Amino acid sequence: LLWASCFPKHKSTQRPRNWLLPQACTFKVAVLGAGGGIGQPLGLLIKMSPLISAIHLYDIANVKGIAADLSHCNTPSEVLDFTGPSELPSCLRGIDVVIIPAGVPRKPGMTRDDLFNINANIVKELVETVADNCPHAFILIISNPVNSTVPIAAEVLKQKGVYNPKKLFGVTTLDVVRANTFVARKKNLKLINVDVPVIGGHAGITILPLLSKTRPSVTFTDEEVQELTVRIQNAGTEVVEAKAGAGSATLSMAYAAARFVESSLRALDGDGDVFECSFVQSELTDLPFFASRVKLGRNGVEAFVGSDLQGLTEYEVKALEALKPELKASIEKGVAFVEKQR
Ligand code: NAI
Repeated sequence: LLWASCFPKHKSTQRPRNWLLPQACTFKVAVLGAGGGIGQPLGLLIKMSPLISAIHLYDIANVKGIAADLSHCNTPSEVLDFTGPSELPSCLRGIDVVIIPAGVPRKPGMTRDDLFNINANIVKELVETVADNCPHAFILIISNPVNSTVPIAAEVLKQKGVYNPKKLFGVTTLDVVRANTFVARKKNLKLINVDVPVIGGHAGITILPLLSKTRPSVTFTDEEVQELTVRIQNAGTEVVEAKAGAGSATLSMAYAAARFVESSLRALDGDGDVFECSFVQSELTDLPFFASRVKLGRNGVEAFVGSDLQGLTEYEVKALEALKPELKASIEKGVAFVEKQR
């Protein structure tokens, strides 16, 4: 299966599925910001999932044609389009997984935090409607700055009385995808086998790849650790600069998001062996939100892989301490944004 082979880390692919079997298609997924650079290829990738019965595409404009186009692919899920806030509630009713890539992307010279003013409002308004219409769904936040937009979503859900910390996820999968790719290339490893946990947050130095925990076990020189860590942290900027004003990562992000959606659906489907890194409410450190490997189950986060944070190298320990103030400030900025508007 093309779809299954795209996401090699899922042991459940040992139990092959036939994507044409109608009973396999169970879940409804909504993409908010579906007309954008990430939203469009993400829609295409999840259209290939054997687990999805319906894809709801929402945007403030131009989503009708995208849905018509996608609906002609002969995979089982039906595709429906929803335009503008008046159609958002019907987009969200009955949805199992909501993915939010709505908002503006970076241009050269911008940090993710520079997007705060626009994207904070967008995420807040969308999550308010999510809370009213599908409060039990998995909520996957892609919109940057993830370090702030996830706390914003949490505060909105709390205000609505429906916050379930186990089901709110900041999508940091692209950092893992990049780390796996760069490490495999550097060390001449078979890409499909490489897995590097990435912890912390999703911006600059808050992105901390734990190279010492790379599987399969591999040794790095100090120079390699420094070079790979910096490259993984700046990989988003690498793409922003190469696109020279035309946006940020969209295709690799769509791939990474599709992997996280696939993992979410497998977890919802009862697969007991699903692990992903994600920025979630956490008690692993003294920060209220933290990205780490988590075990996903039917009810969302089932367990934290705390062992990843044990036995770190001196370099990783220092980097972890160094990222905390910035991550803490970004989290607090998100919380304060929602509180200010009460
Ligand atoms: P884009 O500008 O191509 O697309 C954004 C889409 O959101 C547009 O179609 C726009 O109409 C829509 N939108 C704007 N306001 C909306 C609203 N209120 N409701 C619904 N839709 C709305 O941007 P792109 O490249 O798709 O990036 C989207 C976001 O993803 C950005 O914030 C970007 O920084 C972030 N991103 C996150 C990554 C991660 O690893 N988490 C990686 C790459 C990008």
